[in-house]
Amino acid sequence: MIPALETRDLSKHFGALYVTQDVSLRLEPGARHALIGPNGAGKTTLINLISGALSANRGSVLLGGDDITAQSQAGRVKRGLARTFQINQLFRDLTVVENVTMPILERSGIGRNIWRRASTFSHVLDEAMALLSQLHLHGDALTPVRELPYGRQRLVEIAITLGLKPSVLLLDEPAAGVPSAESHIILDVIAALPEDIAILIIEHDMEIVFQFAKSISVLVAGNVLVEGTPEEIAENQEVRAVYLGVEADG
Ligand SMILES: Nc1ncnc2c1ncn2[C@@H]1O[C@H](COP(=O)(O)OP(=O)(O)O)[C@@H](O)[C@H]1O
Ligand SMILES: [Mg+2]
Repeated sequence: MIPALETRDLSKHFGALYVTQDVSLRLEPGARHALIGPNGAGKTTLINLISGALSANRGSVLLGGDDITAQSQAGRVKRGLARTFQINQLFRDLTVVENVTMPILERSGIGRNIWRRASTFSHVLDEAMALLSQLHLHGDALTPVRELPYGRQRLVEIAITLGLKPSVLLLDEPAAGVPSAESHIILDVIAALPEDIAILIIEHDMEIVFQFAKSISVLVAGNVLVEGTPEEIAENQEVRAVYLGVEADG
């Protein structure tokens, strides 16, 4: 099977600091893959390299078997690679539905021709509203993003990525900073994401990781220490020692 996403020996350094070292990952279509590791391990950098926000010093990124290493961030999005950020990046003065309409317009290549045909506009709006329902945001459609609680802003961010109809979705700590009373909605939404999207998630909360992921990579100091099923990771003594802070036996 052609992997949905693959990195081959991806490497990045900032001066003398080697942040990503020969990272090779493989996500099948529909994968549920978690990237875990201590603070500063290079998780966000890896997502930046995959999404094209940063360019790699070495190695390659393949999307659906095509080498996209030389493509811009926007070019990668067009090909079906979407991401959320650790800190949300929304148009705060626009309403929720306006924010969610943008990626749909972008994807359909309608852009500023939207006003030419009312029928196109209504399709786009229908799709946006359906997305908002799926993410429990329909009641907030006409609210400016800046007036929403932070947890709901993060949901809008996920809605925007879904509007791009991605084949691969990169989630960088989607529930970070969200009060626990709200975070369960985000986790429900993530659990219910379309099965055909391959998902790479960075998440600190191990309970969430073990519930969601079918495979896990542990990143330590820019290197993949180990990769495996949640059971394998949980039992791995090296992981327990390095990451979970548990002393290895013997
Ligand atoms: N643009 C940058 N310039 C210099 N150092 C950076 C830059 N971005 C990240 N780093 C460093 O790279 C390391 C990995 O950071 P990051 O990828 O954010 O880790 P994580 O997401 O796992 O916490 C850290 O030591 C961080 O300070
Ligand atoms: Mg990070």
